Amino acid sequence: MRIVDLKIEDIAFGGKGVGREQGKAIFVPYTIEAELVSAEIVREKKQFAEAELVEVKESSPHRVTPKCPYFGRCGGCAYQHIDYEHQLAIKWRQVRNVLQRIGKLRDIPLRPIIPSPKQYEYRNRITVHAQNGMIGFFRRDSHRLIDIERCPISCDEVNQALTELRERNPPDGHFTLRTFSSRRVFSQTNDQVATALRDLIADLVPANQDLLIDAYCGAGFFAKALLNKFKRVVGIDWDKFAIAAAKENATEKETYIAGDVEEELGRLNLTALNSQVSRRKTDDSAVMTLIVDPPAIGLSVSVRRAILDLAPATLIYVSCNPATLARDLKELHGKFTIDSVTPLDMFPQTAEIEVAVHLHA
Ligand SMILES: C[S@@+](CC[C@H](N)C(=O)[O-])C[C@H]1O[C@@H](n2cnc3c(N)ncnc32)[C@H](O)[C@@H]1O
Repeated sequence: MRIVDLKIEDIAFGGKGVGREQGKAIFVPYTIEAELVSAEIVREKKQFAEAELVEVKESSPHRVTPKCPYFGRCGGCAYQHIDYEHQLAIKWRQVRNVLQRIGKLRDIPLRPIIPSPKQYEYRNRITVHAQNGMIGFFRRDSHRLIDIERCPISCDEVNQALTELRERNPPDGHFTLRTFSSRRVFSQTNDQVATALRDLIADLVPANQDLLIDAYCGAGFFAKALLNKFKRVVGIDWDKFAIAAAKENATEKETYIAGDVEEELGRLNLTALNSQVSRRKTDDSAVMTLIVDPPAIGLSVSVRRAILDLAPATLIYVSCNPATLARDLKELHGKFTIDSVTPLDMFPQTAEIEVAVHLHA
């Protein structure tokens, strides 16, 4: 395929640099905006093309040496070649752009991004794959494995577990390696940023309320940190192991439901809510907070509808995918006002972005 010279204009959501040839976008991984590069086109579509970096001809002052020998081949990290401050600037800008473009939002109350205290060695769990004697991660844009001996964004304990797994010559399959402290059920991946997220939410949620609904609650990470602000707390998650963990040490005011948010949120709306909230029935939504922390696909149409019906006074939306967040906010924005949008860097060196949005009805 042919080689082109490009000026990189921006870093797209997902981490690839974007240059243009006669107006057509060409995506080149491992580049930085303002760099002049030559790149080989490897896939050409009508609207855009994908290319591989051949040479950086004029490099960005933000370019640094990656710490990982697998960087560029492993599918995990996208930004090890960019200094950390600039990674944060890119992610902040991407959140703003995606909320404007997909969410059609204007005057977004976007706060500064919360950085990760650790820029490497932060992951408390990884899932590696074993196949034909190879143990590692998938290569970028592929289902082929790259053999990995050590992952520099993972903490020592996880890397120790990886060494032990490799020594055992495991059968083909998927293996999740965790620190002792991270539970078997879903837990946030970067302990320090998870604490910052939990503290942020504790700051945003007003005190003296009746009911907290923590949808997609996992083991109750947010619910348990907010107990002192509510009379009743209801958590919903379809992972019954997570719900069992949430029920351990649960106080009387906590109820955890093992079920699909899709069904349970609407059900709560119709029945359980009125009996659990002890205020006058006409005004029950005025004293309720709803937290949603869905997986990357975001909220389904019916969950969005249930939230609009529920009309909680405070709505906190925690997202690991700004694109689905933007789609959902576009609809929720009709009924709710956005008070703040805070990006958090839960996953340094990768293109992943976590965002916490505070809304009120
Ligand atoms: C991003 S995690 C959030 C977990 C939790 N908030 C925490 O901080 O530990 C998403 C959670 O949603 C749950 N989940 C995904 N889809 C669901 C659904 N349709 N109904 C109920 N739970 C769901 C998963 O089991 C997982 O625990």
